[in-house]
Amino acid sequence: MIRSVVSDWKEDDHLRFEKELFHRKHTFLDRIDVSDAGLAALIDATPDDYIDVVTMGDDPSNKETWRTGDVRGMKGADIIEAVKNGRVWLNLRDLNHLMPDYAKLLDDIYESFEDACPGLQTRRRQLGFIISSPHISTFYHVDVPITILWQLRGVKRVFHYPKKEPYISEELMERIYLNEIDEVEIPFELSWDDRPDCSTVELRPGEMLLWGHNDPHRVENHDMMNVSLSTEHFTLETMKRYGVYFANGYLRRRFGMGQLGIAVEGLSPWMKSAFTAMLKKSGIQKQHRRVKWVSFRVDPDAPNGVRDIEPYPHGAFNASAEAKNKAA
Ligand SMILES: [Fe+2]
Repeated sequence: MIRSVVSDWKEDDHLRFEKELFHRKHTFLDRIDVSDAGLAALIDATPDDYIDVVTMGDDPSNKETWRTGDVRGMKGADIIEAVKNGRVWLNLRDLNHLMPDYAKLLDDIYESFEDACPGLQTRRRQLGFIISSPHISTFYHVDVPITILWQLRGVKRVFHYPKKEPYISEELMERIYLNEIDEVEIPFELSWDDRPDCSTVELRPGEMLLWGHNDPHRVENHDMMNVSLSTEHFTLETMKRYGVYFANGYLRRRFGMGQLGIAVEGLSPWMKSAFTAMLKKSGIQKQHRRVKWVSFRVDPDAPNGVRDIEPYPHGAFNASAEAKNKAA
């Protein structure tokens, strides 16, 4: 079953999956139309408030250039033209909630992994469809869920860094889990790329890649438009890690507590997870919710496909996010 998703899965790959850089071949190239016309039709079929839009400068250490935009009311073909010629990153989010084909694809992926990895139980599965410009980057960040990249068109270079200092600290992880900072708002130095414990992978159409949970990474597109799927999931272990970091961060801030463990084994992470669930139910984490500003509109006739507009709060147009916030 797993080879219907990952064609070169090896006998003992269940020991590597989610634990280390995992670079294999996938089978989706025949399942998804990634021609320009196919991409334009997919965008046209996706409601505006499910499309995340970002632009950024060409210095991956200058996080100030990371900006949010919108594509409201635009035709898919015009958006694709702007992406091909500009500096625009699109994520068609939660397609599994909108389109039965993508719901089936997501189920196929995770049922296959659960079948191939004894004891694996995945939850909170999500699927995003990423279309991005030649040469642009996804800046250095960590993901809270486990993320898998499935390359469909174009080539990108993925830079991977170990989950330890100086690349990432426990304090920064806590701040991300508490939603005090965005995942890309962590320090990065270009010189880290030369260190022997950092590695790179060229990701080509028909290939997939994942890495250890919370490992820092960044991505640079080669000289062509890129199309990738990004799938996300949690496991029991990653849910407990969420509970541990969130509870530790709260206890440190509220009661000034010092050294707190981050192990996900034993009784303590269960207690911290229960405490986190209680805190989240009380709505306390919303005090840290930051307002994202939308400061540009995608425009194929503007330089880099980006036309500056009067900034407005992201939530004002992102109805689905607002609905989720209210439901949370
Ligand atoms: Fe990521």
